[in-house]
Amino acid sequence: MAAKIVLISLLAMASSLAMASDPSPLQDFCVADKASKVLVNGFVCKDPMQVTAEDFFAMGLDKAGNTENKVGSMVTAVNVNKLAGLNTLGISMVRIDYAPRGLNPPHTHPRATEILTVIEGQLLVGFVTSNTDNGNRLFTKMLKKGDVFVFPEGLIHFQFNPGHTKTVAIGALSSQNPGTITIANAVFGSKPPISDDVLAKAFQVDKKTVDWLQAHFTPCKRMATNTVYISTLSPNDQERFRGSILYIYPSPPSICITAPSNFIHPQALQMAAKILLIALLALASSHALASDPSPLQDFCVADMDSKVRVNGFVCKDPTVVKAEDFFSTGLDKAGDTGKKLGSNVTAVNVNKIVGLNTLGISMVRIDYAPKGLNAPHPPPCHRDPHRHRRTALRRLRHIQQRQRQCLFTKMLKKGDVFVFPEGLIHFQFNPGHTNTVAIGALSSQNPGTITIANAVFGSKPPISDEVLAKAFQVDKKTIDWLQAQF
Ligand SMILES: *[C@@H]1O[C@H](CO)[C@@H](O)[C@H](O)[C@H]1NC(C)=O
Repeated sequence: MAAKIVLISLLAMASSLAMASDPSPLQDFCVADKASKVLVNGFVCKDPMQVTAEDFFAMGLDKAGNTENKVGSMVTAVNVNKLAGLNTLGISMVRIDYAPRGLNPPHTHPRATEILTVIEGQLLVGFVTSNTDNGNRLFTKMLKKGDVFVFPEGLIHFQFNPGHTKTVAIGALSSQNPGTITIANAVFGSKPPISDDVLAKAFQVDKKTVDWLQAHFTPCKRMATNTVYISTLSPNDQERFRGSILYIYPSPPSICITAPSNFIHPQALQMAAKILLIALLALASSHALASDPSPLQDFCVADMDSKVRVNGFVCKDPTVVKAEDFFSTGLDKAGDTGKKLGSNVTAVNVNKIVGLNTLGISMVRIDYAPKGLNAPHPPPCHRDPHRHRRTALRRLRHIQQRQRQCLFTKMLKKGDVFVFPEGLIHFQFNPGHTNTVAIGALSSQNPGTITIANAVFGSKPPISDEVLAKAFQVDKKTIDWLQAQF
């Protein structure tokens, strides 16, 4: 019991240090100054006068990550380390590639909710709730192209490609630097290792099993992919692994071996199941240490039938919540760009995925016909006080952004990523002769949109033409003509 408590508090400390949502920005943007020696929460801001459109830009998300590794998956992250303009904006993006049978193993993001859509292939996904939620329930779902799934902040989740073809997914996370704790690595691969006495007691297995598991995450990994580390070097082991010893560590006496193909520990599977339990205990306690009060439970799935009005939506009874509540489909289908502007935004927000309630993130697909425009608009700033992060990340051919009197503009091609800081007016235009498709994420469950032209000239009732004539320094006839367009 004592050993279990030690392990749990170790894990709890590791995750609770980071278990808080990102702070809201206090200015238009705060591009990370990586050269600064000053350590702050996040990064020090660059001189705004030195900031250019390049600071909000990254590329290469069209390139597949290398999945030739033990688990058969690769995450390509576009976070604040790659895109300095994300600093203080509380959002980031990932591309995940999965080989056939590829796994993104059970892990958590201590600072972020994740929303993910399948671009190609198929994906089995799931997350497990904490101990307090009626005993660690698993919510799981098989996804196909265009499907969307949500993994609530801090909960352990996984993705597995059960098919015979590769899978590609695009995800967004509600932090500039979400962090990842891969459960197996954190428990068995810590440096220095957690004592095998502790782990053997915690998982109720013998030390050899622990050693075998630790071997998968310790020094040999650096030497070759099929090597394992044996931390107790007995004469018996030397005999057993003769011919496959690659390296002998003098202190403590231990060896690195080429793993024999039949070297499967009988208790390994039983152990793996217990890893999840311990990590869940750790998460449950770290939640209680978090300083940011939002969210206040594993999830709060919106009850759209409730008549009670609250900030966001009332929560559904958690016992009737299903995997479907975190799921949506159809993001592979193009929106109809037939109307005037030649663009169409398909939004996956809390109105479409009720599980997004309180989680501070949503996703969009935007289609642009040739010469299509997504008109200048800022996301409004008053719908969701738990999360003041409404930044869009988008991949498309042409983007412009206006910031005070400075315009930050950039031509984008496939795989490029661009950031629109919270609340600032921005637009996107497809100058080409072919269709454009972009996937974006916004740091709110319900970002809202104010299209400037509509808000100014199309309000009901209209803003007085005298006011607008003065504001725009034109005559009233021009205003009347403009208002007539809306
Ligand atoms: C966007 O596309 C959808 C699906 O084709 C369509 O129902 C909707 O009316 C379109 N929206 C606009 C604003 O054109």
